Amino acid sequence: MITVQDLAALRDVIGKARAESTIALVPTMGALHEGHLSLARQARRECGFVVVSIFVNPLQFAPHEDFSRYPRRPEEDAAALEAEEVDVLWAPRPETFYPSDFSTAVEVGGVSEGGEGAVRPTHFRGVATVVAKLFLQVQPDVAVFGRKDLQQLAVIRRMVRDLDFPVRIAVGETVRDADGLALSSRNAYLSPDERRRATALPRVLFAARDLARGRLPLPPGEGRGEGVLDPAELARRTREELERSGLAVDYVEVVDVETMKPPPSIRSGTALAAAVRVGKTRLIDNVLLMPIGETR
Ligand code: PAJ
Repeated sequence: MITVQDLAALRDVIGKARAESTIALVPTMGALHEGHLSLARQARRECGFVVVSIFVNPLQFAPHEDFSRYPRRPEEDAAALEAEEVDVLWAPRPETFYPSDFSTAVEVGGVSEGGEGAVRPTHFRGVATVVAKLFLQVQPDVAVFGRKDLQQLAVIRRMVRDLDFPVRIAVGETVRDADGLALSSRNAYLSPDERRRATALPRVLFAARDLARGRLPLPPGEGRGEGVLDPAELARRTREELERSGLAVDYVEVVDVETMKPPPSIRSGTALAAAVRVGKTRLIDNVLLMPIGETR
């Protein structure tokens, strides 16, 4: 693996690789965990040449958010990527990535607006802008993103479609710890007690999925076997359960994974997504209510 920190060197390396291989890109902000590494492995299955980028992107953090304390572990990250046989670690220098008078933005309407976008109004503009820039720098054939950040995935897909980026978006499923919590660089902020409480998030989401699929009995008088089919009803029950578990809920939504809008019914391609706060830490997670492509 080679680590590249300036754009001219990146273009040189990529130019040579392109003559022989297809190129995959996995964009990250570092503090790498198994979730990120699973995307790097998927990238390797998709393409002959794998680039992982690490850049903590200031544009996607609001002024009051955790940009300055976001975990940074450059040596461990490089060792982990080396072990995965990644070809290039693209680690642009923060001082040169954005010129001091940088003034361009990519704004993806619609899909950016609910959910995370409602709580973090400038977040997806920052994500779309940096990902557009990374796509133009690396010009990958395939880029791999995690389902963990469901709305981010929808924003990137929409941007790629609307602007005709010549890249195929591949999706990696969410990697979880043994206690169910989705791996996230931000889990490092949790105290042991907060971490225990945080496991209610995946537990409640998976129970709600089973309820929707008719795998759990409904309370007496509500029948059984059919499941909860109404999206708003499922979201309401999930919120109640999360609050009962002592979590502060930012939102719970049933969404169509492509449009991020509430679907008329629970069907293929609908997911249950939630954001909660445990102490000062904000966690997001989601589950697919029905596998994509499956019909009830
Ligand atoms: P980051 O949070 O570092 O995540 C990088 C990629 O890893 C994203 O595609 C994310 O969805 C995926 N990922 C995170 N946790 C995962 C898990 N537990 N299982 C599987 N995949 C997981 O997302 C970002 O960085 C940034 O917004 C970025 C796209 C790099 C733009 O700055």
